[in-house]
Amino acid sequence: MTCGAVIPAAGSGQRLGGRDKALLPLAGRPALAWVLGALARSAQIDEIVVVASEANAAAIESLCQVSELRIPVRVTLGGAERALSVRAGVECLSPSVQLVLIHDAARPLLTSELVRRAIAMAHRHGAVVAAVPVVDTIKQVSVDGRVVTTPDRSTLVAAQTPQVFRLDWLRETYRRVGASLATVTDEATLLERAGFPVYIFPGDPENIKLTTPLDVTIAEFLLARRRRE
Ligand code: CTP
Ligand code: MG
Repeated sequence: MTCGAVIPAAGSGQRLGGRDKALLPLAGRPALAWVLGALARSAQIDEIVVVASEANAAAIESLCQVSELRIPVRVTLGGAERALSVRAGVECLSPSVQLVLIHDAARPLLTSELVRRAIAMAHRHGAVVAAVPVVDTIKQVSVDGRVVTTPDRSTLVAAQTPQVFRLDWLRETYRRVGASLATVTDEATLLERAGFPVYIFPGDPENIKLTTPLDVTIAEFLLARRRRE
């Protein structure tokens, strides 16, 4: 099956003091360059669409040009919310694409092994999301801080990207969910709402998302170690 990758990179990094996470240098390369490298080394990926913001589009265009990747990379403009950016990227994929892999630019620790696992699982299930066990006990709380309930941790996982979907399912989902799209934080949630069966596969605990300064410190350490290996 032909597989296209969509990389949402149009955020503004508010929880990181407004720093652009896609362009953030980590162990000598921007976060997005680490992601592009892992995708380009993955034989399963046939094309890549990077979704940029008005603010970072020019820098991302030039980064994609100097990267000399084996596969075609296009850059398009995103929207005000992550889900809108991803949809804009999906609209740019070639008509021949059957599977779409979505991966955040803010997760620079992607590996080609994780991509391989994601695509293999998508061939089996049609809609899959990388997930890792939850290590903390999770509590649902009310606005005044009172604990409402404590779900059994053994039933909980933390969702990551990559997430891979049959493109016909994702397109059908976009038709069904309409405007409620903008409020969700990942595409798996949309497919669940549209009634498609979504399966998890083992993610990678190192595949963290750059959200706060602590994440940047950890990612820098892990990528510097990878660079030495
Ligand atoms: N993203 C996007 N378009 C948006 C918002 C986010 O493409 N309108 C992308 C980000 O660039 C990132 C990924 O979605 O690669 C995950 O989002 P998140 O970690 O929330 O990044 P930001 O939105 O940039 O950060 P914050 O929420 O702290 O502002
Ligand atoms: Mg965000």
